[in-house]
Amino acid sequence: MLNLKLDTDPRWVKNAVENNIEQILTDHAYCELKAAATAAAYIVRYPEKEELVDKMVALSREEMAHFDMVHKEIKRRGFVLGSQQKDDYVGYLMKFVRKGEGEEKKFIDNMLFAAMIEARSCERFKVISDHISDQPLAEFYRDLMASEARHYTLFIKLAKQYADPAAVDQRWQEWLEYEKKVIGLFGKDERIHG
Ligand SMILES: [Fe+2]
Ligand SMILES: [Fe+2]
Repeated sequence: MLNLKLDTDPRWVKNAVENNIEQILTDHAYCELKAAATAAAYIVRYPEKEELVDKMVALSREEMAHFDMVHKEIKRRGFVLGSQQKDDYVGYLMKFVRKGEGEEKKFIDNMLFAAMIEARSCERFKVISDHISDQPLAEFYRDLMASEARHYTLFIKLAKQYADPAAVDQRWQEWLEYEKKVIGLFGKDERIHG
């Protein structure tokens, strides 16, 4: 799915997700908030790329709406939004962004970094919706899955629009290989990328 090299073991849903819904929803809410913040940060970083700015405005709004949906779900269940936890998975991905090798490479990696998180989040939402016994949550995650798949496509498209498409394709393969090793370290904890 989405060309990812390693699928999430569905046992993660039974072992980590189902018994920790409050923590999962809290972590998920912050994923959405960080996605909105990243979109806003890309506007600051690439102000001259007009279409990118327009797309990031729309994306930031949409991710904020997702945050609101998750927060509503938290409240509906009588839970409380907890505090933000460190996302080690995202930390590993950040290390793969090339620095000091020129603006184009950094731009490509910034786009692919975001695409990677969207793709893996989409895969995690699918695994949850396919395997969770809580039907309302299964539907909730199925709806969000489609948005994250669109966002993954958006970042790849923007990368190719403003940089050499062949270089983007080649680098995306490297990202997929790297992410395969990273995600292999996870799949046990009660977090969206845990
Ligand atoms: Fe989202
Ligand atoms: Fe997204």
